[in-house]
Amino acid sequence: MITNTDIKKTGNQFPNRIVEFKEEGDKFYFTTNNGVILEVTILRDSAMRFRYATEFVFEDDFSYAIDDDVSLGYNLLEFKEEIPYFTITTSKIKVFIDKESLKVTIEDLKGLIINEDEVGFHWEENYDFGGNTVKMSKITQTGENFYGMGDKASHINLKGKKVSNWVTDSYAYGKDQEPLYKTIPFYVGLHNEVAYGIFFDNSFGSYFDFAHERRNTTSFWADGGEMNYYFFYGPKIEQVVEAYTDLTGVPELPPLWALGFHQSKWSYYPEKQVKKIASTFRKLQIPCDAIYLDIDYMQGFRCFTWDNRRFPNPKKMVDELYKEGFKTVTMIDPGIKIDRDYWVYQQAMDNDFFCKRADGPHFKGKVWPGDCKFPDFTNPEVREWWSGLYKEMIADIGVHGVWNDMNEPAVMEVPTKTANLDVRHDYDGHPCSHRKAHNIYGMQMVRATFDGLKKFTFPKRPFVLTRAAYSGTQRYCATWTGDNVATWEHLWISNVQMQRMSMSGYSFVGCDIGGFAEQPNGELFARWVQLGVFHPFCRVHSSGDHGDQEPWSFGEEITDIVRKYIELRYELLPYLYTAFYRYVKEGVPMIKSLVYYDQEDTQTHFRTDEFLFGDQILVCPVQEPNAKGRRMYLPKGKWYNFFTEELVEGGVEKFVEADLDKIPLFIKEGAIIPKYPVQQYVGEKEIETLVVDVYFKEGTEVSMVYEDQMDGYDYKKGRFSLRKFRLKGKSNELIIQQYKDGSFITSYKTIKMRFHGLPFKIGIIELDNEKVNYETVNYYGDNSIEISKDFTEIHLVGI
Ligand code: GLC
Repeated sequence: MITNTDIKKTGNQFPNRIVEFKEEGDKFYFTTNNGVILEVTILRDSAMRFRYATEFVFEDDFSYAIDDDVSLGYNLLEFKEEIPYFTITTSKIKVFIDKESLKVTIEDLKGLIINEDEVGFHWEENYDFGGNTVKMSKITQTGENFYGMGDKASHINLKGKKVSNWVTDSYAYGKDQEPLYKTIPFYVGLHNEVAYGIFFDNSFGSYFDFAHERRNTTSFWADGGEMNYYFFYGPKIEQVVEAYTDLTGVPELPPLWALGFHQSKWSYYPEKQVKKIASTFRKLQIPCDAIYLDIDYMQGFRCFTWDNRRFPNPKKMVDELYKEGFKTVTMIDPGIKIDRDYWVYQQAMDNDFFCKRADGPHFKGKVWPGDCKFPDFTNPEVREWWSGLYKEMIADIGVHGVWNDMNEPAVMEVPTKTANLDVRHDYDGHPCSHRKAHNIYGMQMVRATFDGLKKFTFPKRPFVLTRAAYSGTQRYCATWTGDNVATWEHLWISNVQMQRMSMSGYSFVGCDIGGFAEQPNGELFARWVQLGVFHPFCRVHSSGDHGDQEPWSFGEEITDIVRKYIELRYELLPYLYTAFYRYVKEGVPMIKSLVYYDQEDTQTHFRTDEFLFGDQILVCPVQEPNAKGRRMYLPKGKWYNFFTEELVEGGVEKFVEADLDKIPLFIKEGAIIPKYPVQQYVGEKEIETLVVDVYFKEGTEVSMVYEDQMDGYDYKKGRFSLRKFRLKGKSNELIIQQYKDGSFITSYKTIKMRFHGLPFKIGIIELDNEKVNYETVNYYGDNSIEISKDFTEIHLVGI
């Protein structure tokens, strides 16, 4: 046992020399001569946690980020004391902990260094606030590249950049401006074709330097708390992202309508205007599922109230909109107006629910309603109360979804734009200042909102949207990237942000299509919709100051283009829903950067524009005016041009034609893409046939379609339908086998297959081993057949 006196005796002579170690199941403790303890926890063969205490004392172990259902368990765990180091070996990696320095090196089992401490853990005492600034530095490996980190508006590859994390209201932010609205302190490192990830779970303001200050050093540090990070070994990026997503959680499936098109503006009011927008969608036959009410529906911006002049009968309006297929989504902010006669304010005062400053007075800040106080959402009692406030809006009035905005929290007219750092928080029984709670404040607000909506929408599924987020917020809601600008550069930024967020475990994400600030011209709007329909959350939103931004605001030509792409999104709903299912089930991001798709191809390491929508559709937006097309990189494999059906070999950069009504779009060879008919809103039509577009390949490819009731929770009891299609093509033959799972009976009885790129003319058709007549399968020589949805195998032979 070493004591403080021992520390004084040894001083800094041998800083961090290990003098004691302890093994406790899947945890290992290494204590040094200067009072540091390193705790290593083995979660899985390829996932470990490293946590450091100073002065022999760990903090209470508590995190808002970690999911309750994280998977644990390993196949192998060997611990050895050797001469210069201790080693921990699993079936995937070997960890070396140096006895003289506590430095950690992680190798794969072939002996390749994956990650290596430079100085390793170090810290500086914080004399102003107490505690330490905790730091970690690593050696940047040769050729190492970096991805992830949430919503940073920078190049996909963060090599050479320094970024910081402090959730911030960033109206009209610019490229490379940061910090922005989210704190997701998770990155993926890639070198020597091997990927790993690090999640620094510390809610204080934090910083990451990816070989910026010093070329060979990657470091991360935080203003307080503990050095506490998780390490995930790949070797594939895919495995790293899935492991991080498993640790921090996934959402439930959203109601399918939430994947439809949403229209918003600051603000649609009064009721007559809302209805006019809704009816224009129907009149012009532009599909739309949700319409948003921004702050002006409230009585003087008081949350949970309605302005009765503008909205005399909200329940009636919400019902009438619903009859037309529109779901109403309302905004709720965290700032509660200081007003003695306002019930929400009174309740929070009576129960002592507002945040206080260090010396006792309430924290006050100006937001839309003027002076406000802010509930302490880090107190579980406050969250419970907040979730109950939604009863009237959701259960009685029938509103379908809620967006929580300004939850950084954003405060106006003060230089910090947020709560003062001395503001106190409960932090679920771990009292602290705003320095520690700032980054998770919005997350805890939206968590309470999610709980409320879940209660009051049951047996249906809730839909919640947030602006601020910390790692793990994806468990509760969708998110958007805040107040962007109607510029071409922002179209580029949105594309990068969506890919980066998806790589950071947060897939249900979208941007204000067309831009929030300023006004796009028709061309920019059309190009942005063409991109936005391939983002998991698809919503047009804009500040009202700069004119209209509805699909019909830019003349007929643009309206027609926009309609065509929104229609395509509705056709692709089963494909998108299947991607969502894979995200929920396995943590697979719904969109993927090229480097994720093929990390071994170094061409992909710096590509920002092209991405995979789901698993099999390649998208590359046009990002400049007057373009007739653009150059883009097609990754490995063969790809069908969606419009021309030309089959192109990947691994090359190519010019792809794309007039204003086209976006470069490719389908992976062998893919089977499920489609629904165009509907004006989800559920408008009963699906009578599932159309699948089959893209021929010589070789095999597996595709799937997930379906359920589109809402409700029966899917959790097995009432879903999962079809897996295995396609096998030869020069004169095509076989598709179907494997089914789940007990949900889909409304359609048949599947219509439309064949693309068939190299032969169909001669013989065999269904489940029996030869069939052309009429039985509705084959009219047009490369499509219609067969029972329950088929096991379809076999086409060419003439
Ligand atoms: C914030 C939001 C924006 C909203 C506005 C008014 O700027 O980011 O989406 O329209 O506040 O509520």
